[in-house]
Amino acid sequence: MLKHPLPRLDKDDELKNLLLPYCRFSVGTIWIDKLSGHKIACGDATNINFVQSLFENKKASLAIHDPPYNFIAFKKSEVQQFIEWSKKWIEITYEYLKANSSLYIWLGADQKNNFQPLSSFIEMMSSTKFKSRSFITMRNQRGFGTQKNWMAIRQELLFYKKGNPYFNVEAEYTDIPKVLKGYYKSVSGKLTENLERSKSENIRAGNVWIDIQQVFYRMGENVNGCYAQKPLKAIERIIQASSKKNDIVFDCFAHSGTTLIASEKLKRKCFTIDIEPVFCEISLRRLEKFRYEGKTGWQNSNPFANEIQNDKKLKTYLNKKYKLEY
Ligand SMILES: C[S@@+](CC[C@H](N)C(=O)[O-])C[C@H]1O[C@@H](n2cnc3c(N)ncnc32)[C@H](O)[C@@H]1O
Repeated sequence: MLKHPLPRLDKDDELKNLLLPYCRFSVGTIWIDKLSGHKIACGDATNINFVQSLFENKKASLAIHDPPYNFIAFKKSEVQQFIEWSKKWIEITYEYLKANSSLYIWLGADQKNNFQPLSSFIEMMSSTKFKSRSFITMRNQRGFGTQKNWMAIRQELLFYKKGNPYFNVEAEYTDIPKVLKGYYKSVSGKLTENLERSKSENIRAGNVWIDIQQVFYRMGENVNGCYAQKPLKAIERIIQASSKKNDIVFDCFAHSGTTLIASEKLKRKCFTIDIEPVFCEISLRRLEKFRYEGKTGWQNSNPFANEIQNDKKLKTYLNKKYKLEY
């Protein structure tokens, strides 16, 4: 495969602008899928009127949100701002979820700053109508850290419910071998160790997931240009656990369109929003690629590689600023 990297789009407004002519979205566009009923909406997820025009008279059974929190400098006031902003899309989500439904939110916890914004976010959620359900940790394969602290390898995922939602326990993987010995008990006068006694060779994963690789450029699902892609496997697990076929899955922050692709694979309808036309376009191109080629991403190429090759301005810009050859 050709190597055509694309730098992080969120950090380069000029590059985003150069790609705009190739986007079928501008703020206000709602693309409706004739094949499976998905919708991609370009606009602000905290604008209730906009979300209303996306849903019309429909409601979702599941919401999976991955808000941007990298813009917070973790000063007190900024965390508060993020929480106030989050309250808006959380309230909107409550409105557009069915009476019995599930909500999952990905969030970071800065260990140098009182685990913000996660700690304040959890506090804020206690004042909403959602009820807490589980606190999932996904173990990253690669981490960061120093020799003076535990390596940071976790991604946090909060699970809340509205009413009494469906839950499919089969979605939980159970292929972790039992290894811990040492729990002895006397059975019919014989001292037995726990592995001898148990019926199953495996343990349930529960709310600690250790089998998912974070996305990087060697993986087929990688989408260059995106900075915060969640692994498809994780989103598929959530969808399988907390929704049924044909249900609507709501995602306020589309970015690379991971929830859209997982919904397409699992025959759910995804209603997704992104405020940036370029990320709406990437989500749509990813869906089209999946449909036509069966591929979930571009690996080490990118969604705009063909256009860039034929666009002198873009080619020169990428070469000058990033030394990239097309
Ligand atoms: C952390 S990323 C989501 C990543 C996504 N889960 C994935 O797997 O690709 C957050 C996205 O939210 C979008 N965003 C930021 N503010 C928004 C808003 N007010 N309404 C809708 N989208 C917004 C950003 O443009 C960005 O693409």
